[in-house]
Amino acid sequence: MDFHYADSGISIGAVNTSDQAIYALSVDNLHASVDGREILRGVSLEIPAGELHALMGPNGSGKSTLANVLLGNPAYTVTSGTIEFLGEDITHLPPDERAARGLFLGFQHPEEIPGVSVFNFLRQAMSSRKGIENFSVLEVRLETMAWTKKLGMDQRFLDRYLNEGFSGGERKRNELLQMALLQPEFAVLDETDSGLDIDALKSVADGISTIRSERPELGILLITHYHRILDHLAPDVVHVLVDGHVVETGGPELARTVEANGFGVYQSKVG
Ligand SMILES: Nc1ncnc2c1ncn2[C@@H]1O[C@H](COP(=O)(O)OP(=O)(O)OP(=O)(O)O)[C@@H](O)[C@H]1O
Ligand SMILES: [Mg+2]
Repeated sequence: MDFHYADSGISIGAVNTSDQAIYALSVDNLHASVDGREILRGVSLEIPAGELHALMGPNGSGKSTLANVLLGNPAYTVTSGTIEFLGEDITHLPPDERAARGLFLGFQHPEEIPGVSVFNFLRQAMSSRKGIENFSVLEVRLETMAWTKKLGMDQRFLDRYLNEGFSGGERKRNELLQMALLQPEFAVLDETDSGLDIDALKSVADGISTIRSERPELGILLITHYHRILDHLAPDVVHVLVDGHVVETGGPELARTVEANGFGVYQSKVG
């Protein structure tokens, strides 16, 4: 998938008419630390618009750190390297400005927000992303109901407080509901498949496919430990992150290799 800015002569995606390709997301030699400890040690990734890339790696390798750094979580410090989003350097932009430009993060551990209903949260988030004047409450309600249905969620969800008492699977589906409604340009999904039963996994994967088919330019970085969700979603590229480095990049078959062989072979390389 590629689309063009007719006047500028540049294109996003696989086709490149200038010397330099513009990616949906381009991460160059990114180093980041938390509490003075370096976690990302030179991560480089290039993800064209419309592609789905999977990111695998052992516990503690820095996957969620990368997700948080991409979205600008202030708990993490970028010490060097750059993040470009649709050709713009966003390395030092605050999180709300990244979100407004269409970057989305589905959290590994979504937090409870007592006193804020799912529906009101979604309305708020949609207004900062797209401008509330474009939607009536009724429109938001109808759109939201349509997506809860597509994602196999209970409508009563919308009136509950955000993530309060939600089961693991419900939290994950709720993240996906946000992604569907916010219509991001790029989504980082951190273990969206964790804690889902087999049927829920299928409906979440189907949900992601539906969102992709409605937004073909949407790029996704999907963090996962298992090939199962990738069997439903067919990634374009799989990356392996070990100890804060991307140690291997390959096709969809890499997910199975990693799951079968583990990360030991890479750990001895970076160690
Ligand atoms: N906010 C934080 N404060 C302190 N340490 C952190 C913080 N975030 C991450 N770390 C540390 O950074 C390292 C990488 O953590 P990260 O959550 O990125 O790993 P991960 O690859 O997502 O692992 P998992 O597969 O278990 O989710 C860990 O040692 C973790 O304890
Ligand atoms: Mg993680």
